Amino acid sequence: MNSKPVPYRPFRWGAYHVTMGIRDMPWDGWIELDNQMKSYYYIKKHRVATRGTNVVRVLPDRPGIVNSASQSAIELVHELADYLSNRYPDAFTVSRSPLGHISSITIIPVHDTLHLPPPLVTKGSTELRKVSIEEAELAMKISALLVQDDLALMVEGTDGRYYFQGGAVCVPGFWRMRDKIGLPLEDIHVQGHVPQYETRLHNSMDRYFKRMPVDKPIVRNNYFFQVIPPREVRQPIETSAQSSAKPIFENDGIVDPEELAWSVTTNGNEDTFLHGHPINPDEPPVVAAENLRLRTERQSLRRLPLSGAIIFTIRTYLFPVEELAKEPGIPARMASAMRSWPEDVRRYKGNGLYEKVLLKYLDKAAEEQQLSGGEELSKDPGKGFPY
Ligand code: HEM
Repeated sequence: MNSKPVPYRPFRWGAYHVTMGIRDMPWDGWIELDNQMKSYYYIKKHRVATRGTNVVRVLPDRPGIVNSASQSAIELVHELADYLSNRYPDAFTVSRSPLGHISSITIIPVHDTLHLPPPLVTKGSTELRKVSIEEAELAMKISALLVQDDLALMVEGTDGRYYFQGGAVCVPGFWRMRDKIGLPLEDIHVQGHVPQYETRLHNSMDRYFKRMPVDKPIVRNNYFFQVIPPREVRQPIETSAQSSAKPIFENDGIVDPEELAWSVTTNGNEDTFLHGHPINPDEPPVVAAENLRLRTERQSLRRLPLSGAIIFTIRTYLFPVEELAKEPGIPARMASAMRSWPEDVRRYKGNGLYEKVLLKYLDKAAEEQQLSGGEELSKDPGKGFPY
């Protein structure tokens, strides 16, 4: 919790290929927690308080199609509480009921104690209990506050496809849960115009979801760039968060200065956003190196053992381009990666907004590194990828 965010730099030299890009996940790496956890907590708390079912929602049973994610929501919050209190004992403590299950969890850095709904299975029984939507959504709100990640519960339908039946999606930046909830995996990606989904991803993803075993969690990383508001409009969240618990919930600009939750600068107003058409600003943004961020996600997939649902976690990191440009070899590698994007990928990543400014800046930084005799740079990220 005192450590810096993991420095993911998941772009490669040379040709860009659309693939699933999955790796095995070591179990103690399920959830990453770092020194930004308080900022994420305050942003999420604000989102949950102001945007309701737009950010936390669990769908009921849809007879003949797919079951509710209500049971998996309860399973998830207990799994998270157990995992986090073991993995990060300095950040979380739990209380237990006389029967031994976790009854509450305290997030120590923000002094918040959250009371968990009873577990899915009571001691000595194997039957999963019934869960109402209200109870499940409460569980998802708690899960949202415990981790920096967004959360999506995928439930297998009668047709063998996986449906997005429940989620806590507070900081997606470029898509809205309300456009995707209830859809099968395929429609989520097709309607979002994900490049080369049909040709390169569809079949392997479907196969993967159907067969995924409980003990083989995986991760993948992606990246693109985000234009954020100019410096004079931003304010540091820690200052406002520390001053008092109240005022920070009154003004989006103060709670989330870099538009982690929703990129107004690129996509315009969240409520009038047109699904499938990201990069549609209300006003032309101020594109300059200081306003550019590498936005990169670290996603994990894992099957929950009791309910059989798959939990998809999405942890988003925002890194200032100006900082990245100081790292040896990074500006040259980033520029090479951008130049290798196929046309459909360029469009999807919204290159039109920032490409000219960013490439010019990266080329200059790369040249300066070379002139100052920087170390011989490897063109192969090799074993260390995605760093
Ligand atoms: C192995 C699993 C998965 C793979 C390989 C995959 C692949 C992708 C790819 C390639 C993209 C384009 C952006 C990027 O490069 O990441 C994307 C976008 C997206 N994916 Fe997935 N995905 C997976 C699972 C899921 C799941 C479980 C969800 C459930 C909510 C999901 C929701 C989305 C959404 C909402 C977008 C953005 C679409 C848009 O721009 O409207 N993905 N995915």
